[in-house]
Amino acid sequence: MNRLILKKITAFVLIWGMMVSLAGCGSRKHKSYTTLRVGVITYTQNDAFINALTDCLKTELKSMETAHMKIIVSIRSADDDQEDQDEVAAEMIDAGCDILCVNLVDRTAPSKIIRNARDNDIPVIFFNREPVMDDLMQWDKLYYVGCDAKQSGEMQGEIAADYINEHPEVDRNRDGKIQYILLEGEAGHQDAISRTDSSVKTLISKDITLEKLSYQFADWNRGQAENRMTQLISQYGNSIEMVISNNDEMALGAVEAYKKAGYPEEEWPVIFGIDGLKDALEAVEAGTMQGTVYNDKEDQAREMAKLAVDIFKETDIESHDLSLGRYYVSPYQKVDESSVEKFLKPRQ
Ligand code: GAL
Ligand code: CA
Repeated sequence: MNRLILKKITAFVLIWGMMVSLAGCGSRKHKSYTTLRVGVITYTQNDAFINALTDCLKTELKSMETAHMKIIVSIRSADDDQEDQDEVAAEMIDAGCDILCVNLVDRTAPSKIIRNARDNDIPVIFFNREPVMDDLMQWDKLYYVGCDAKQSGEMQGEIAADYINEHPEVDRNRDGKIQYILLEGEAGHQDAISRTDSSVKTLISKDITLEKLSYQFADWNRGQAENRMTQLISQYGNSIEMVISNNDEMALGAVEAYKKAGYPEEEWPVIFGIDGLKDALEAVEAGTMQGTVYNDKEDQAREMAKLAVDIFKETDIESHDLSLGRYYVSPYQKVDESSVEKFLKPRQ
């Protein structure tokens, strides 16, 4: 073989090698770019706290995108129907989602979602509506992010007791008892049951003598609570001295009912909620509500987002310090007139 031909062959082999390695780089680059698809399903689209929480979750997940990982978040609701939710979960799994975040309609009926997720190896983070432990323990890729409802009831009871001790005029008819109404969230919901129970027990343990006028379910909803309260106001007149509500939306329904009934503010009862949503914080600042308990949606959303990413990458789950390897419990905080300012500032 003469020299010239040898040179040409060498050049060809070199160029071809470069082309192959360039193509190789290209395909490696393609492979290093992953997409995490998170499917979020809420129990309804009409719950103010849940909507605020899922807004935070979306923002958190988006902020965790990197040059190597795109995150696509899809949020749907189940219109208060567990079968609808099972179907939406199935559709999301079929569409290729990698992780599901589920706010159950019926916290005692997660079985279909769990079975489907398990068959397709899709981890599930349940949030806000807590499945019973037996269900959560069915598979090791099931998690729960939420709060300890009892703690919120205790805090609400403490804020109310402190307020009454400092303002004896709450007992308007001076009979030594506080005539009260309790607005309850939803029959069977872990937060409703525990908040009612622990709030009342805490008040009693702090030597407040209570007289129950009525307990009413209003499904966490402002409009329903307003209707119930309007009826109770016409029944009890100005003898209601305190309204304890399982959440802020219903407490704000009570505020609305008093505004519309035309009572002067001195004749309103004291009103306490839970959640710390913006409208309620403003009501505490304005003095139409006397206190609430902050349900830390930012913290819950941050934990859900981090957990979703770490589960997806199969790293760092231990650093989450989950109890029983499954549960993240976000702490509540008390909000009253003296502390409301700090909660009204935009939070991180
Ligand atoms: C509670 C919250 C309520 C309501 C409910 C829905 O934690 O305080 O406002 O959102 O969850 O499950
Ligand atoms: Ca009284």
